[in-house]
Amino acid sequence: MDRMRIRGGRPLKGTVQVSGAKNSALPILFSSLLSGQECRYRRVPNLQDIRTTLKLLGQLGVQVDDGLTQNRVSLRAEKLDSLEATYDLVRTMRASVVVLGPMLARFGQAKVSLPGGCAIGARPINFHLTGLERLGAEIELESGYVLARAKRLVGNRVPFEFPSVGATENVLMAAALAKGESLLENCAKEPEIVDLARALRAMGAEIEGEGTETIRVQGKDSLHGCDHEIMGDRIEAGTFLAAGFLTGGSVRVEGLGWEHLEAVLGKFEESGARIGRGENHIEIFSQGKPKATDITTLPFPGFPTDMQAQFMSVMTVAEGASMISETIFENRFMHVPELCRLGADITIRGNTAVVRGVSTLVGAPLMATDLRASASLILCGLVASGETEVSRIYHLDRGYESMEKKLVTLGADIERLK
Ligand code: UD1
Repeated sequence: MDRMRIRGGRPLKGTVQVSGAKNSALPILFSSLLSGQECRYRRVPNLQDIRTTLKLLGQLGVQVDDGLTQNRVSLRAEKLDSLEATYDLVRTMRASVVVLGPMLARFGQAKVSLPGGCAIGARPINFHLTGLERLGAEIELESGYVLARAKRLVGNRVPFEFPSVGATENVLMAAALAKGESLLENCAKEPEIVDLARALRAMGAEIEGEGTETIRVQGKDSLHGCDHEIMGDRIEAGTFLAAGFLTGGSVRVEGLGWEHLEAVLGKFEESGARIGRGENHIEIFSQGKPKATDITTLPFPGFPTDMQAQFMSVMTVAEGASMISETIFENRFMHVPELCRLGADITIRGNTAVVRGVSTLVGAPLMATDLRASASLILCGLVASGETEVSRIYHLDRGYESMEKKLVTLGADIERLK
């Protein structure tokens, strides 16, 4: 298993290109199931989660032309050999549950393993299932699988109890092929939903309102192929900006607009950083030690839960004490004991962590527990004195394309140990 060795203490300086967004690419690749024609995607990040997605699509019978090393993928779901997403793949990547909506809508049937719990919480899929039922799906749970059937889905009002990202994506894809109009209410407003709607529109879907609470979809009898470029990864960008800030440097990320990250940029400013906002780039200039700043994670446009761990890393060396409240996932503080091993002073009370800034962190061996948690360990390793070795970085490889290479271009002393 690969590990990452970091010798901390260097201020990071320079420019990195942001990869395509993992969380946008995943549902978009599954949306290719809605058409029998070729769907071509560009700027697809070369990541473990994407390889899992392509494997699953391949198992179903989709023709996969994998140009991932050039960040291109071409998919054609002319006919499927199987309508079953098995446990061995779904359990490795919960997001594969968004295969349900498109498979059901186009083929009238889908059998998808229940993903089960995961490290950052229970993560049920009840909102996905209720949403699909509103479109006329018959759903049964059997031996750990969801069985969904519908001759043809029928458009309807779908009010979500909570603006779940995955449920909005699943139901949006299903509604694109349903008969008649659907009105999705209390939808997630994340930029990834907007990118999915753009990809669906490129296939001929009729959608309006994405990025707001209400999305209106006029279902089509069929959709055609498309050529779509995935948007830039806002969480990857935020992670590199945090690295620049925390190490006392200045970093420019290119390949995404600032609007997708405004809640995070505002908090960096409150903590004393100077931010440059461009149409296709963001810059951060650290102006001395960060100042303690409180955050509460919320659905978009609030502070993203996927940046909570990285922001906490910045706060470990801030002046003063900050409160970090996690309202989206339970059990998303697994990075805390690891950060404390570097000398961070963090106490957890319920869903809030109190982080008292310390003057120095000291390198130590650490273990990654989930994707964003592993990023937070790397960040603290970059500022800790001496050597930090992070093991189990397969978590990191699920969501960051060539992270260590990009960090080296910013001047970090980091290497992957095989
Ligand atoms: C997506 C992102 C993830 C991000 C999260 C919140 C992908 C692949 N993953 O995850 O990185 O952290 O959005 O921005 O895009 N919930 C239910 N029932 C459901 C669905 C969700 O109770 O049917 C709960 C979850 O347990 C969680 C909350 O709702 O507590 C938010 O989940 P959701 O927005 O669905 O996140 P994901 O789509 O899983």
